[in-house]
Amino acid sequence: MSENQPSDWPTWLVAENDSIKSSDRWRSPRSFDANGPVGILDGQTVVSFASNDYLGLTSHPAVKAAAQDAIDRWGTGSGASRLVVGSRPIHHELELNLARWRGTESAVLFPTGFAANLGLLATLGGRGVVIHSDELNHASIIDGCRMARSNGAEVLTYPHLDLETLAANMESHSDARQVVVTDSVFSMDGDVAPIAQLAARCARYSALLILDEAHAVLEPIQPPQLSGTTIVQVGTLSKTLGALGGFVAGPTVLVDLLVNRARTYIFTTAPSPADSAAALAAIEILQSDEGAALRDRLRSSVDRIRPDHPSPIIPIVLGDEAAALRASQQLLERGLLVPAIRPPTVPVGSSRLRVALSAAHTDEQIDALLDALNTLETDGG
Ligand SMILES: Cc1ncc(COP(=O)(O)O)c(C=O)c1O
Repeated sequence: MSENQPSDWPTWLVAENDSIKSSDRWRSPRSFDANGPVGILDGQTVVSFASNDYLGLTSHPAVKAAAQDAIDRWGTGSGASRLVVGSRPIHHELELNLARWRGTESAVLFPTGFAANLGLLATLGGRGVVIHSDELNHASIIDGCRMARSNGAEVLTYPHLDLETLAANMESHSDARQVVVTDSVFSMDGDVAPIAQLAARCARYSALLILDEAHAVLEPIQPPQLSGTTIVQVGTLSKTLGALGGFVAGPTVLVDLLVNRARTYIFTTAPSPADSAAALAAIEILQSDEGAALRDRLRSSVDRIRPDHPSPIIPIVLGDEAAALRASQQLLERGLLVPAIRPPTVPVGSSRLRVALSAAHTDEQIDALLDALNTLETDGG
């Protein structure tokens, strides 16, 4: 035990908490009493610009009714893992529809998107494998890469969107089985990966391209084969689809292997029937005229805040943590909930407001946000 490490747990726990507090990074969940963007936070009615419910489907009558019907038919929990007696017909129906929607041969459900990334990357990782990961990938990809590394894979992180470094790294490992993994929409910057170029790189080395589509709502769905590369899609039911859960969609041979090897699929209780039914109803809406109209509405709200920005995640980078906290507080005083995102979630010096838009926001709510953001800029925020 090192000299400055306490030997007993209570002292260590207090010291760890104190060190987070003293660096201004202490966080705790606040209760937001809401069903849609408007709700009550600490007694104040606010409009949230912080949710990933991009099309407002968590409150859609058909989605809610599907979840309620599933509870009536199968009860609340699944009671066992998928490979024991936790699989319900709704899980299979959802997997079939996920595969159809994403244009892949097969799909498999996981408890969350986080678990999907862990299960996929740990299963693919092993000796002779090199995984190339964008430095701004989501924490679940980073942790999945750690698991792959502990299974014997080599993991190389490339600077954000730096295709030249990626190309050089791939060339110098051309005899390995290679994987490139990237968020398709980056969760804190709202920028997008150059998928066609990544696919072309992967094709050159017969590498797998894994796209984490968690925040992809405005882009067209990628064809599963692009430039001769196999694309594996990871997704979540928890954002655009308004439920809870994750999935991997790709070739059947890969999905079959995940069912037999992925520990975050095997050793965990099957997703709840209600969540699966809600996601299934949400996919149906997405593929309908109503879904197209919701996406158009979201696109036009994004354009009002930042024209041509590629996603509903709009960062307003302010620099230090205090500036971001101050701006967030100013907006809150006007009834607008826009979180300040600080290290360690984003790099030091890039603390920011993160605006997340939804088709459920009204024109008046978007007007109020625009107005407040303009005032922030005038104040030097
Ligand atoms: C890019 C990305 N991947 C994966 C996840 C994890 O998804 P889930 O919330 O379903 O665990 C998230 C969400 O937080 C994410 O932003």
